[in-house]
Amino acid sequence: MNILVIGNGGREHAIIAALSKSPKVDKIYCMKGNAGIAELAELVNVNYCDLNAVGDWVDSHPDVKYTVIAPDDPLALGLADELEKRGHRVFGPNKRAAEIESSKAFAKALMKKYGIPTAKYETFENYDDALCYVRNGKFPVVLKADGLALGKGVLICETLEDAEKGLAQIMLDKAFGDAGNKVVVEEFLTGKEFTPGEEVSVLAFTDGKTIVPMIASCDHKRAYDGDKGLNTGGMGTFTPCPFYDKETADEVMNKIMLPTVAAMNAEGRPFKGVLYFGLMRTPDGMKVVEYNARFGDPETQVVLPMLKTDLFEIFQAITDERLSDINIEWEEGACVCVVLASGGYPVKYEKGKEITIGDLDDGVFLYHAGTKRENGILKTDGGRVIGVCAKGKTVEEAREKAYANVKKISFDKMHYRTDIGIKYNK
Ligand code: AMP
Ligand code: GLY
Repeated sequence: MNILVIGNGGREHAIIAALSKSPKVDKIYCMKGNAGIAELAELVNVNYCDLNAVGDWVDSHPDVKYTVIAPDDPLALGLADELEKRGHRVFGPNKRAAEIESSKAFAKALMKKYGIPTAKYETFENYDDALCYVRNGKFPVVLKADGLALGKGVLICETLEDAEKGLAQIMLDKAFGDAGNKVVVEEFLTGKEFTPGEEVSVLAFTDGKTIVPMIASCDHKRAYDGDKGLNTGGMGTFTPCPFYDKETADEVMNKIMLPTVAAMNAEGRPFKGVLYFGLMRTPDGMKVVEYNARFGDPETQVVLPMLKTDLFEIFQAITDERLSDINIEWEEGACVCVVLASGGYPVKYEKGKEITIGDLDDGVFLYHAGTKRENGILKTDGGRVIGVCAKGKTVEEAREKAYANVKKISFDKMHYRTDIGIKYNK
């Protein structure tokens, strides 16, 4: 079967690498892809947020029998609905289900209504009301723009002054555009004795009836070592997560995953696709920090390489609502991904820098994020450029292997964290 994958980052490279191993998949098209993806798929240069343009392209390619929608923005816009309306088979939740990610106000209200553990919060549409609430509250406080903001719409404010500035930035200056029409003001969660709570990402396959978690992984969201600097889309990941033991996984299944699937059904928004649970361990148990309506990036880059089962078969089973028939298996061991970013990311950075890659060790693999090829030369084309991934028996082994190969790659102003895989593993 020929298929189309929507997206252009490291996550999509990892999804396409997994799908290309399926004996059932012939040709893969990718809209709009990158230089790494081009080795596995034919790139299609159509704006995937233009629903009509994507619909027309799929209509005019009858050989394409299945479309995988990976990024958040086309899901939030309703690309799954558009393609289904035109009679095509898709992987990815419809618009109303994707709201679990695209509206933090919706996600918080869902959790409150169905008793799913999360930070206490209030939602505001009016700046003065939000300000009044914050002035009478505790610090630190967390401000979240309601809509999608490339992972940057969350501000942790230590003081009233920071919070006043943050509210103005989100609600008045519209630093995140319409995503800031509403704001969620949230209690700051911590671990024991006010130390930062340990965080874990658990992605799960669900067809709206059955939910099957993937192996857990940990992201590093801040730009610099030691979790310093601004939040980014993610600077690196590792799996497994050392504190995510069977007891914790059972707690999350019973108190968070199953109730979330049931809540979405009860709201008439059955969720089919990958549901991402961003979780924090607190003294009161595991709590939801965020939901995403899709595979995480760069979590996918360490999770999918460990998948033994055919990903395409899993996707088909989800579309047909027979996920319970599939036995999903994972490799033992660890995987680490170190993201190489453009200097200045996530704020201001240059593109078009030539990338050189030396001979990589066996078992090391690259997932391209922001890359392009111009006259045969590989160049940077985004904030996150390449994920350097390696497997090992332990996170430590995988980490050493990944960093040994990071040194073989270079481009002007290349920036990466040197501590991926250290936290929680010390
Ligand atoms: P999000 O984009 O919602 O995942 O938030 C980005 C990061 O901000 C999370 O990974 C946490 O480290 C932090 N964060 C978000 N909400 C809270 C909260 N209520 N308490 C403490 N930290 C938070
Ligand atoms: N790595 C975080 C995300 O995909 O949202």
